[in-house]
Amino acid sequence: IKKIAVLTSGGDAPGMNACIRAVSLAAIGAGAEVIGYKYGYNGLLKQEYIHLDPYAVRNLLQRGGTVLHSARCEKFKQTDQLHIAAQHLNDAGVDGLVVVGGDGSFKGAERLQSIWDKPIVGVPGTIDNDVAGTDYTVGYHTAIQTAVESLDKVRDTAEAFERIFVVDVMGREAGFIALNSAISAGADHVLLPETFTTAAEELVKILDKLDKRRKNRANKSHIIVVTENLWPGGLNVLADSLQAESGVDVRILTLGHVQRGGSPVWQDRLLATKLGTYAVEIIKQGQKGMMSAINHRLPAAVPLNDVSIERKELNSYSMQIRDEISLLG
Ligand code: F6P
Repeated sequence: IKKIAVLTSGGDAPGMNACIRAVSLAAIGAGAEVIGYKYGYNGLLKQEYIHLDPYAVRNLLQRGGTVLHSARCEKFKQTDQLHIAAQHLNDAGVDGLVVVGGDGSFKGAERLQSIWDKPIVGVPGTIDNDVAGTDYTVGYHTAIQTAVESLDKVRDTAEAFERIFVVDVMGREAGFIALNSAISAGADHVLLPETFTTAAEELVKILDKLDKRRKNRANKSHIIVVTENLWPGGLNVLADSLQAESGVDVRILTLGHVQRGGSPVWQDRLLATKLGTYAVEIIKQGQKGMMSAINHRLPAAVPLNDVSIERKELNSYSMQIRDEISLLG
């Protein structure tokens, strides 16, 4: 291989820079040149790229965000645009492409792979951890750390005023961040898309727990973690019902995009470095349409096609703990 290209696509995640660095250093070590397309697939369509040499990726390991920028590219769904992208890769003399992103970005990679004859490898980079076929995605551990720190802080003020806090965390349609940040911060209740039934039923469960809690505990504060976009009508609806039914003051906290920022924690740096390095290995082997993954702690090449059809399940033991520990439900 003479030239490898890398891009970051979709929701940015802490550790994407560490991935760019790992891909670059592994490729340079194998004697290849490296270019980085900017703004996800948009850069590929506009031939907007930068050269990545060891100096360009110096000190990237610890930096949040992505120096290549990211974007969601609707245009990339069109077949004519895929042909333009393939042509641009050939014009630039690229022998292999690494796409760092989530499952939306991988669908684009699969489509491009169907018309381009050189290897394309996906590296799972998203805070949501909702990519099947890999134990973890790059950015997930940092997002949990950020959520846990925020939950610890909000607990202080919740206890002071004896308030209920409803905390909205990211995750798209998956409850990985919600479940594991709730357990790690000792939240009192967590609402997950994987187990949510109806607003009426979930409200009864929360009120029941609040009731028991108030009998057993001196402090009436209560922290409820909710996966984004889950409560029908939004969290104001939940907060109003809770306040009306319990008589306790309720506040809403939406953690939002802070969960996507910050210096990656060591788990994400290590994962990004392993996955980025292994992506170059897959390209060297000439394997096409693969994801560089970690399965049971070992590197693995997983067909992108399998990734897009499988839904990743929450860890069953975390679910069991959530159900068993009386603080969660
Ligand atoms: O996929 C990462 C993510 O942060 C999700 O958790 C969230 O649903 C979405 O992206 C937010 O997207 P945007 O940055 O376009 O608002």
